[in-house]
Amino acid sequence: MGRLIVVSNRVATPTETKGSAGGLAVGVFGALKDAGGVWFGWSGDVVSETVANAGPMLEQDGAVTFATVGLTRKDYDQYYRGFSNATLWPVFHYRNDLARYEREEYAGYRRVNAWLAHKLVKLLEPDDIIWIHDYHLIPFAEALRSEGVTNRIGFFLHIPFPAPQILLNIPPHEELVKSLSCYDLLGFQTATDQQAFHDYVTRHARGTVSADGSVEAFGRKLRTGVYRIGVFPDEIAEQAKRYESRQHVLELKQSLEGRKLIMSVDRLDYSKGLVERFRAFELLLERSPEWRGNVTLVQIAPPTRSDVATYQKIRQDLEYEAGRINGRYSGLDYTPIRYLNQQYDRWKLMSLFRESQIGFVTPLHDGMNLVAKEYVAAQNPDDPGVLVLSIFAGAAAELSGAVLVNPHDAIGMCEALQRALQMPLDARQRRHEINMAALRENDLGVWRDSFLRDLRSVPVRRAGEAGGHQ
Ligand code: G6P
Repeated sequence: MGRLIVVSNRVATPTETKGSAGGLAVGVFGALKDAGGVWFGWSGDVVSETVANAGPMLEQDGAVTFATVGLTRKDYDQYYRGFSNATLWPVFHYRNDLARYEREEYAGYRRVNAWLAHKLVKLLEPDDIIWIHDYHLIPFAEALRSEGVTNRIGFFLHIPFPAPQILLNIPPHEELVKSLSCYDLLGFQTATDQQAFHDYVTRHARGTVSADGSVEAFGRKLRTGVYRIGVFPDEIAEQAKRYESRQHVLELKQSLEGRKLIMSVDRLDYSKGLVERFRAFELLLERSPEWRGNVTLVQIAPPTRSDVATYQKIRQDLEYEAGRINGRYSGLDYTPIRYLNQQYDRWKLMSLFRESQIGFVTPLHDGMNLVAKEYVAAQNPDDPGVLVLSIFAGAAAELSGAVLVNPHDAIGMCEALQRALQMPLDARQRRHEINMAALRENDLGVWRDSFLRDLRSVPVRRAGEAGGHQ
């Protein structure tokens, strides 16, 4: 078995992969440890040109090499802050209204992909399989192919793939899809995302799609599949229980004075539906006075991409909404919304989830949303909380025990909260069991192993076959 090469915009540190880092880091690291290999990507630092060109920095941990490079200010601005997060991210989340397109940024995006690919080539061995992650790196395989790389290369998109009419808003949409066709395997979070890609191929690229998901487009053949990312539910359950008697949980319990608790945790991103969520909670207090003073919403929202204008705007909007709602319904001893712009340790969060009666997860669009899955896994099976989940989260396709809501329907969300707050124990337990069964059946290991198995089964290219678009 050849080594595994993982490429993602951000690379977890060796320490992070062992502690309580996000499940994805732990899952990917598991596969790297088994096969041996390299995790390659951006170090997260903005550096001088000399330092950037001197990279990658190598750090060894057993059979795994962590290889990271810094980005220059210009590269960071054009590739990360610009085309990745001000064009692709909003459009792929159906927010054309928040997207901008600048040719120079797109050129920078392609240039950085080519530069990163060039750096990686030197670390590759002939039998390696290469797994590329997410929207920052769409042209990566094309760049590797143009350097003569014939290894198997797979791509997993962690965010939604938009319907063709939405994708057309990005002027170089055709080039992007053409770049995707240079992979051997494309993985999507849900059947809806895969279908959207197939629709683009047949309607706009004069390509064909077979019943097994293989695609022919731009003179290339590739496979596509649905790989729903998961968590390791039993590990989360165990850790949530272990942390349950820690100081932070006791303090929270004490401060709630018997009130019901609704928990939400998201990066501070406009795709997460935070304003809509706050308004639904406000409506609950407005329409049902009996809940005033008796229920608290804890929203943890660590700021992210704060140098992108749209993120500054959502932060202001939320501060305004939280202040307004709290001004309206607070008492001397009661604050309805506790809004925290802080990052919390993952196991701490799991134990807070376990204390709460509702997990309120209402994105406007989301590839999967692992918080929804973590919330379920962290519950106490003897007295589980209820997951209130947006139909626009990828997780909604699996978690049929959740109370599903449309985040654009404030009254509907308010009614769902009422229902969840009053749900009897047997109904909560039934829903919890259904959700846990889904999480166990399709855990993080299944996601990782099935993607890698499919990638390994792609026929290997012959030398001279690297070029994608002869
Ligand atoms: C999403 C993306 C990831 C990204 C993460 C954090 O989950 O799908 O690729 O790493 O957000 O965003 P950031 O811009 O801070 O890396």
